[in-house]
Amino acid sequence: MTTAPELSRAPLSGAPYFAVEYEPETGEVVMLDQRLLPAEVVYHRLSTPDQVADGIRDMIVRGAPAIGVTAAYALVQLARTQDGDAKSFLLANGAASRVLDATRPTAVNLAWAIARMSRRAAEVAALAPVERYRAMRTEAEAIHREDVAACREMGRLGALDVPDGATILTHCNAGALATGGYGSALGVIRAAVEAGKRVKVLADETRPYLQGARLTAWELFQDGIDVEVITDSMAGHFFQKGEIDFVIVGSDRIARNGDVANKIGTYGVAVLAHAHDVPFGVAAPFSTVDMAMPTGEGIPIEQRSREEVARVGDRLLVADGIPCRHPAFDVTPARLVDAIYTERGVVRPAQGETLELLAADARGPRAR
Ligand code: MRU
Repeated sequence: MTTAPELSRAPLSGAPYFAVEYEPETGEVVMLDQRLLPAEVVYHRLSTPDQVADGIRDMIVRGAPAIGVTAAYALVQLARTQDGDAKSFLLANGAASRVLDATRPTAVNLAWAIARMSRRAAEVAALAPVERYRAMRTEAEAIHREDVAACREMGRLGALDVPDGATILTHCNAGALATGGYGSALGVIRAAVEAGKRVKVLADETRPYLQGARLTAWELFQDGIDVEVITDSMAGHFFQKGEIDFVIVGSDRIARNGDVANKIGTYGVAVLAHAHDVPFGVAAPFSTVDMAMPTGEGIPIEQRSREEVARVGDRLLVADGIPCRHPAFDVTPARLVDAIYTERGVVRPAQGETLELLAADARGPRAR
């Protein structure tokens, strides 16, 4: 087990470790360095929104909901240091928002959280600095708490579809480390276990960043959940052998028609699941749904550095000078998605169901 650093308030994430928390005593954003896991457990205390933006860009923290929560806390940091009038506060908030927004383009939770914080900033700009800081902090903590609650609810809904005794394949890391806490895809697995189901997990290693091998296996192992790591190229073999009963993944952005962007390699897993008649599910908070994006075709795909493909750690895999490509995400078409589990309910795109029904939830559509 690992121990998180002491904070002046209880962590909102609800696990012995956390991706990100805010330390109100010092105004620091505290993040677990996910680049170093599982070899080292190191938490960074970042003092400025620019440092936090660098942390998101460099993937100290990653996972769509977790980076949304992180950006919200960066804007709290900003509010803490602004003692000017409403106009200067809003200018500073806008400038920091643009820097944060540009860090990672695919995960819509980032833009969603920044937009929500900016709406709050506009509402409270005219208050005394200490009051608007308090309001911004309350809003960011609400985003964090709501994300954990959403994970628990989508987990509960997804777990209903998990057969007892299932072997579940997951890709990338959509766990407590990728969210406010508990996890989306791993939330479904955790909820199935909490409901008394016996499950076993196969975690795709998830080249090139190895989130499955390094993070998903680490999380599940600490929970005592039966997990084995496979290389991405082994998944087809295990489908063919009939060893996979259920697939669950997270998402970085879901288009209005149910097309799902997630970690590169997810589309291949969905095609395999379809070919072998295995249910393919996606778990995501509604903040991942982009109702302004009609189909997956328009989703911006982050292109990351050649180095992440050409090397594993210090080891050179591809000789210098040879180009490598690195789209960090792909898009799985709605027809291959059997279920999308959200805190608002479940839609089944492969059966023609759309997200419109959930968008009209009592809390109103979350327009960005
Ligand atoms: O590049 P990453 O590690 O940020 O990508 C993360 C994923 O693709 C996750 O599956 C997705 O964000 C869902 S996390 C609940």
